[in-house]
Amino acid sequence: MDQVLAPSRPAAGGTSLLKASGIVKSFGGNRALNGVSLDVHENEIMALVGDNGAGKSTLVKILSGAEVPDEGTIHVSGRLAAIQSPHDAHDLGIATLHQNLGLVDCFDVPQNVFLGRELSTKILGVLPLLRRAEMVERTKALLRELDIRMPYLDRPVSTMSGGQRQAVAISRLLLGDIKLIIMDEPMAALGVHEGQKVLDLIQRLSLRGISFLIVSHNMEHVMSISNRVAVLKNGNLVGVVPTERTTRQDITSMIIHGRV
Ligand SMILES: Nc1ncnc2c1ncn2[C@@H]1O[C@H](COP(=O)(O)OP(=O)(O)OP(=O)(O)O)[C@@H](O)[C@H]1O
Ligand SMILES: [Mg+2]
Repeated sequence: MDQVLAPSRPAAGGTSLLKASGIVKSFGGNRALNGVSLDVHENEIMALVGDNGAGKSTLVKILSGAEVPDEGTIHVSGRLAAIQSPHDAHDLGIATLHQNLGLVDCFDVPQNVFLGRELSTKILGVLPLLRRAEMVERTKALLRELDIRMPYLDRPVSTMSGGQRQAVAISRLLLGDIKLIIMDEPMAALGVHEGQKVLDLIQRLSLRGISFLIVSHNMEHVMSISNRVAVLKNGNLVGVVPTERTTRQDITSMIIHGRV
């Protein structure tokens, strides 16, 4: 198993991949985001932290197309982006790993990896025939490429460990041409060993040029994996700090007091 480098890797280059500006979102009278601006760079792992109710999931939902903001703009690679649905986000190279992982429990690994994008051939021009062997081969190639070892591919994912299920869900995201993976509390339900494996996978993918925006309450993970940490409090961005030039205590203080 690869070791997670600690403290974090040096800050990434700084070219903007995803830039959110002045994002406002209210639910009834409750303002969840109060004009948040955030810039995720190419090839970086950004952690998004904050207390319960700070607005992290709301921001993530907006960036992934699950919610539409009341105000504000989003640019992807310098171009104004209209993200109205998860489909729009995916077309722009943004994929989101939700906490429930979006897997179908009774399906096996290749079925889950290709879920909704099954490879098929039409017999007599009408009847779809699934190209199962090809999907199995492509799943194996993908897992090999990601250095993910999975003893069985042909068992329902319900029989797999939390970490293996995460790996299947991440592989699934990578079928498309993905530049940014957003994760909301990805390791929350995992044990220490499994969580570490997912961190390793995130780092390997990051070295291949994929950026990450990761919501986490786990300060140890945040400090070990991220290039920069963005802190939200009560719907406002408190600040963004390079991980290697800050401490856990500083970040905790930003979360609680709302000051850098
Ligand atoms: N669908 C909704 N309807 C009404 N209010 C909502 C909705 N979603 C979020 N909120 C409110 O918006 C605020 C921000 O919530 P959000 O879920 O973004 O916080 P969070 O930072 O993800 O918190 P946690 O760490 O607990 O997951 C909270 O006050 C929450 O009650
Ligand atoms: Mg949340």
